[in-house]
Amino acid sequence: LFNHLDTMPGDPIFGLMSLYAKDPAEEKASLTIGVYRDEQGKPWVLPTVRKVEKMIAEDVATNHEYLPMEGLHAFVESARDLLFGNPSPALTSRIGSLQTISGTGAVHLGARFLNDSLQPKRIWVSDPTWGNHHAIFDIAAPAVEQKMYPYYDAATCSLNFSGMMETLEEQAQPGDVILLHACAHNPTGIDPTKEQWKLIADLCERKHLFPFFDSAYQGFASGDVDEDAWAVRHFVDRGTLELVVAQSFSKNFGLYGQRVGAFHIVTADEQARDKALSHLIYLQRAEISNPPVYGARIVAFILQNAELKAEWEQDLLIMSGRIKTMRAALFGALQELKTPGNWQHIVDQNGMFSYTGLSEKQVLALRKEHIYLLTSGRASISGLNRDNVKMVAKAIDKVVRA
Ligand code: LMR
Repeated sequence: LFNHLDTMPGDPIFGLMSLYAKDPAEEKASLTIGVYRDEQGKPWVLPTVRKVEKMIAEDVATNHEYLPMEGLHAFVESARDLLFGNPSPALTSRIGSLQTISGTGAVHLGARFLNDSLQPKRIWVSDPTWGNHHAIFDIAAPAVEQKMYPYYDAATCSLNFSGMMETLEEQAQPGDVILLHACAHNPTGIDPTKEQWKLIADLCERKHLFPFFDSAYQGFASGDVDEDAWAVRHFVDRGTLELVVAQSFSKNFGLYGQRVGAFHIVTADEQARDKALSHLIYLQRAEISNPPVYGARIVAFILQNAELKAEWEQDLLIMSGRIKTMRAALFGALQELKTPGNWQHIVDQNGMFSYTGLSEKQVLALRKEHIYLLTSGRASISGLNRDNVKMVAKAIDKVVRA
């Protein structure tokens, strides 16, 4: 019955992780998946999360009942407030929010919802974007054509803003959806400036494009949760745009496996919000019934307590700070080695990743040196630490000179 099936390609990110795990070399480095690693290269449970886990474990009133279909209310409200910056009651009445299976679930739910409701002809995604965006829209919005707007300028390893704007200006049609990374763009680590964000918002208004934000790294780009939400808030504050946001808590709370996320829709008025929310809840019931409670409980607990929230913000600074230090360390080591090329972009890019500019051939040669990054040249910088950064730099130097 199933012999007619083609074999699907494996996921490049998870595939590379298992390749790395199988490598028996003692000296090896994983710059593969976007997860935070501490100075010892180990997963890091945020101290604030650890503390709250203990409090939850000791609370006899905690139970494992089903959540409502829209999720844990305390979590959903805190997630909304973190993203939109404690919105006014007038704005709150236009925002519909529900808990999702992390960012992937939120993008999926949003894609499926827009496919059915807005019925756009096209969705514009950045070239490049997170690989899973393509798969999610393929599956959840099959009727929507995927188009790419230029984003990365390979010659300078920076943003191709004029290419992006020209393409969208000339080719995007009213009603098209545009997918934007709220901050810490994955995979390039390159974000528009505030001035450029304003121009993107102008374009969306003028051309009637529907913004779909993916916010997976709030707090990871600048270390400041408000600063990293600037673009989303700017689009909303204009008061003219309706939009949606997929929000993940995997990275900023280190709750990867707990699948904590939210989906938000900002509509023109309360009536439209309620109608949209009813459709989203209908989809949610059919797809997952209701989201998982544990991670959401942790996030809500922290965000609803000013002291714990401040402690969590310090944890965030530790993560974003260590990544910045490792960017500088890699850049410094390459400079010391006088590695051919200009590596300034490694320190200029932000968030979890660097789009190194290494070619596929160079990346494959690095694998022989037991260093693993995506063939696109994307490196997850948190895989670096003081013990391995020199080894990584030497290997890069070797493959660049080859
Ligand atoms: C990544 O891009 O490495 C992360 O977002 C993890 C994932 O699910 O791909």
